[in-house]
Amino acid sequence: MRKKIVAGNWKMNMNLYEGLELARGLNDHFTTNPVGDREVILCTPFIHLAMVSNLLTAPGLSAGAQNCNDHKSGAYTGEISAAMIKSTGAGNVIIGHSERRTCYGETDELLAAKTGEALRNGLRVIFCCGEVLEERQGNIHFEVVKRQLDRGLFVVSAEEFSRCIIAYEPVWAIGTGVTATPEQAQEMHCYIRRLVRDRYGNDAALDTTILYGGSCKASNAAELFANPDVDGGLIGGASLVKEEFCSIVNAL
Ligand code: 13P
Repeated sequence: MRKKIVAGNWKMNMNLYEGLELARGLNDHFTTNPVGDREVILCTPFIHLAMVSNLLTAPGLSAGAQNCNDHKSGAYTGEISAAMIKSTGAGNVIIGHSERRTCYGETDELLAAKTGEALRNGLRVIFCCGEVLEERQGNIHFEVVKRQLDRGLFVVSAEEFSRCIIAYEPVWAIGTGVTATPEQAQEMHCYIRRLVRDRYGNDAALDTTILYGGSCKASNAAELFANPDVDGGLIGGASLVKEEFCSIVNAL
């Protein structure tokens, strides 16, 4: 059966000391309040990654990066490879976040290369997709998400796909305080699961964890997670506050 997961995406927030304090606080909390069948992933800035990865000892907690380079190694000043991420002990990486697509011009083809590189290095990929407001208003959101998945993710083998998580993050809901309704989330997650079934078969579809992201917080997490195809959340702002993040995990 597929995993229920809450992943925090810290984005470019918190210095090293603040990040370590939050990670320690969460580790302590989930040591005394075990996550059980659920999983919690902390996707930190690269600077924090090795230390956070090493201090997470509570069962079910792990660390992840927010990006990786598409090349193996070499003269790419300022970049971080999948192998480097793996060597920190972190097991996960977010690929295709809308902020990277928009702010850094990451194309579906580049994301396919990053996904492949991450998987070859034994990382689990949290692959993000989602439409912007105009695309939803133009009623082409299904088409947009299908294209993103077809080109960026569905190029991997079935074995590789078994190490992927999909995160549906409607761009209009990210950091805006406007959350997708539970119906909108369920409708898209159900559609995504159908796409997985068409590409990788029924077992893969049933096993794939599909997270919702976009202004998900303690006050709305339970109603989002109550949907049959919503297997957890990818949390931005609310993952920076210990109590808020713990409540979201609790809602799962
Ligand atoms: P917010 O939860 O801040 O809307 O961000 C969601 C997100 O982008 C997670 O990757």
